[in-house]
Amino acid sequence: MNQRLDALVDEKIVSGRFGNPEAPHIDGYEASGGYRAIREIFGKLAPKAVTGIVRASGLRGRGGAGFPCGLKWSFVPDMEGPKYLAVNADEGEPGTFKDRELMLRDPHQLVEGILIACYAVGIEKAYIYIRGEFAAPARAVNKALAEAYERGYVGENILGSGFSCDIHTHMGAGAYICGEETGLIESLEGKRGHPRLKPPFPAIVGLYGRPTVVNNVETLSNLPHIINKGAEWFAAIGIDEKNTGTRIYCVSGHVEKPGLYELPLGLTLEEIIDGPCGGVLRGRALKAVIPGGASAPVLTAREVREERVRMDFDALARAGSMGGSGGIIVMDETACMVQAAQRLAVFFEHESCGQCSVCREGTGWVAGILARIEDGHGEPDDLATLNSIDPNMRGNTICVLSDACAMMFGAFVNKFRSEFEAHIEGGRCPLGSPYPA
Ligand SMILES: Cc1cc2nc3c(=O)[nH]c(=O)nc-3n(C[C@H](O)[C@H](O)[C@H](O)COP(=O)(O)O)c2cc1C
Repeated sequence: MNQRLDALVDEKIVSGRFGNPEAPHIDGYEASGGYRAIREIFGKLAPKAVTGIVRASGLRGRGGAGFPCGLKWSFVPDMEGPKYLAVNADEGEPGTFKDRELMLRDPHQLVEGILIACYAVGIEKAYIYIRGEFAAPARAVNKALAEAYERGYVGENILGSGFSCDIHTHMGAGAYICGEETGLIESLEGKRGHPRLKPPFPAIVGLYGRPTVVNNVETLSNLPHIINKGAEWFAAIGIDEKNTGTRIYCVSGHVEKPGLYELPLGLTLEEIIDGPCGGVLRGRALKAVIPGGASAPVLTAREVREERVRMDFDALARAGSMGGSGGIIVMDETACMVQAAQRLAVFFEHESCGQCSVCREGTGWVAGILARIEDGHGEPDDLATLNSIDPNMRGNTICVLSDACAMMFGAFVNKFRSEFEAHIEGGRCPLGSPYPA
């Protein structure tokens, strides 16, 4: 392991209060340094200086695309009239389960992060768009907001600084597409969560046609720490200046100790799996890993064990995958790659909003063909058909759900081709039961 990163493995930023049962309550949050950051900056530091700190920290979005946070804020025009912050707490990506914990265990950290973002961009109204199923996290956030309003941290003229900001929660209804930023905005406006054509981007034309920043829960939760400890401190955690800080990795599947692990950016996947996660389940051989939620193309055991792919935004992009939402799904030698791909295709088919025919039809066709192969009725041309569908599903739709589905099955078919062929030729899954003991 990189010695510098090794020393940082225990550095917890956003999950630092997870073991503190008092953290969700305002007294507990304040006692552990909470609401200190806004006292430091409100009325004392120019908003642009706050954006400067966040840019210098190198913080990139933790929701999916990894876009630099401060840079995104700087796209919002300096103009009169309302601007909005939409907090993405939809967390629909399969394999991802961190934002719910951040809201449940440290809701004030999120509230303070929201306040910092709003102050930096000159926003007076924020909406937290919470996944419909997240009843307990939503209760925690609503309680935290009530406490913060009562103490004067949210609302009119916060801490006498002259800056005012209201924060509201809004429950979604569990649609994956409402996590896409413009689908989320449409849904907040009370419409179907149909993504919008971009450009214009939300920073220019967003909620109610006004400039809007969309940021993920984990991204915002980092902000109080960056203000308290400084951009340089944050930038020094991680592998290089473009991959700074930590990420909460959500590890599921065939490992001894699945769960949430906040770790510095730049460890290898192998180090994460064999280190904190306790290795592959029951000592079995590793077969494949999805490194960043369902949309992130699968990696083979060779890429993990021999090429030692690192878990930072740029290393994963170079490996043809992506950091995505931080959801690491580990599959050992007993996992059927056809079944895994088929299950994910069914997800994309179900969650396609249906606006674009390429996505609406394509995801369904892919799910159908993969189901046929998995059921032992695959036809000799099926892999060629999948390969011919793949490029048509990329770059031709309003949002990237279709691209995500294509990247997913493209990687499975190309990297595990012999397993797909064996299903077709043998008329059955060569691994036997897909659910071994
Ligand atoms: C289909 C789809 C679903 C998405 N779901 C989520 C989600 O659940 N949560 C999230 O934060 N970002 C999600 N995103 C990414 C958002 O569009 C957006 O990039 C992100 O919220 C920006 O915040 P960040 O810059 O802080 O990461 C999704 C994107 C797509 C295309």
